[in-house]
Amino acid sequence: MSKRNERNRKYKRVIAVTLMLTLLASGCGKEKPKSNNILRVGVVTYTQDDPFINAMTDKLKENFKEMESEDFKIIVSVKNGDDNQQDQNEIVEEMIDAGCDVLCVNLVDRTAPSRIIRMAKQESIPIIFFNREPVKEDIMQWEKLYYVGCDAEQSGVMQGEIVANYLKNHPEVDVNKDGKIQYVLLEGEAGHQDAISRTDYAVKTLIEHDVKLEKLSYQFADWNRGQAENRMTRLIQQYGKEIELVISNNDEMALGAVEACRKAGYRGNDWPVIFGIDGLEDALNAIKNGQMQGTVYNDNEDQASELAKLSVEVFRGDNKYRSQLTDGRYYVSEYRQVDEENVDEFLEK
Ligand code: BGC
Ligand code: CA
Repeated sequence: MSKRNERNRKYKRVIAVTLMLTLLASGCGKEKPKSNNILRVGVVTYTQDDPFINAMTDKLKENFKEMESEDFKIIVSVKNGDDNQQDQNEIVEEMIDAGCDVLCVNLVDRTAPSRIIRMAKQESIPIIFFNREPVKEDIMQWEKLYYVGCDAEQSGVMQGEIVANYLKNHPEVDVNKDGKIQYVLLEGEAGHQDAISRTDYAVKTLIEHDVKLEKLSYQFADWNRGQAENRMTRLIQQYGKEIELVISNNDEMALGAVEACRKAGYRGNDWPVIFGIDGLEDALNAIKNGQMQGTVYNDNEDQASELAKLSVEVFRGDNKYRSQLTDGRYYVSEYRQVDEENVDEFLEK
């Protein structure tokens, strides 16, 4: 081989190695170089119009703020899926491209997390799902998937118990004195784990407590106050003062029923007893002034705090909170019953 040829080959090799090193140092161009002092969290909710979810994300942001220090910064980006799973997938993709380290995802369609899981897994980004629970087979697909939420059955049982307890102490709820309680039920959202179990267990629990029920109507109202008001207005037109009890899968819809009763000009005995779930401030005030009779506190403070702690922990690779999770993946927050007796305790929060 001539001297010139050999020099040429050496030169080419040096260029190739330099190019490779440059690419490696820049993290292949796509991602920003990762730092241990900056945690980038992408939070994606299913919609921007859900007061319970918004209360929870506000608390989540507060938690992240409190966890910052001189040499540890947390950058939080909160977006919503606009009630469309495809849109939500795209938002997650953008967050991954922008270099996020951890994702907190409130799925639009809890049965369709596959695409999000695939994208995150490719870049090894942990996901903590919350509030809208994927099925267990999905969570178990990969070891960096977690879920923060509640035991839906517990909320249904607790709601049934508060209603049963109230009825025992207030026989006057049976306005027409036929020995049965005529009721309507407002349901959250078809297919949502909380809607299904709350409906089921609230009614089962009442029956177990020997309450004689007569179902007038079940109506879906998408967790939403306005929709529930419309449904209830129609129910009032149809059944009038026959309705003695309203059981609602959440507080927002219970407050929609309150609004419908108010607009119907109901007072005193006309007003059915109304029960919700969540313990949102408006509902606590409604219990305080007698427009609602009870709710079940869905502890969004606790869930937000766990989401924040887990996010930091998976980022750092620690194991303090993770070691306490059910099946290594699930955090289950406890519900609490709220009625006239203890409502002040929750209003003070
Ligand atoms: C809450 C609802 C909320 C829904 C959203 C439920 O756990 O009780 O108020 O609309 O989650 O997924
Ligand atoms: Ca009756």
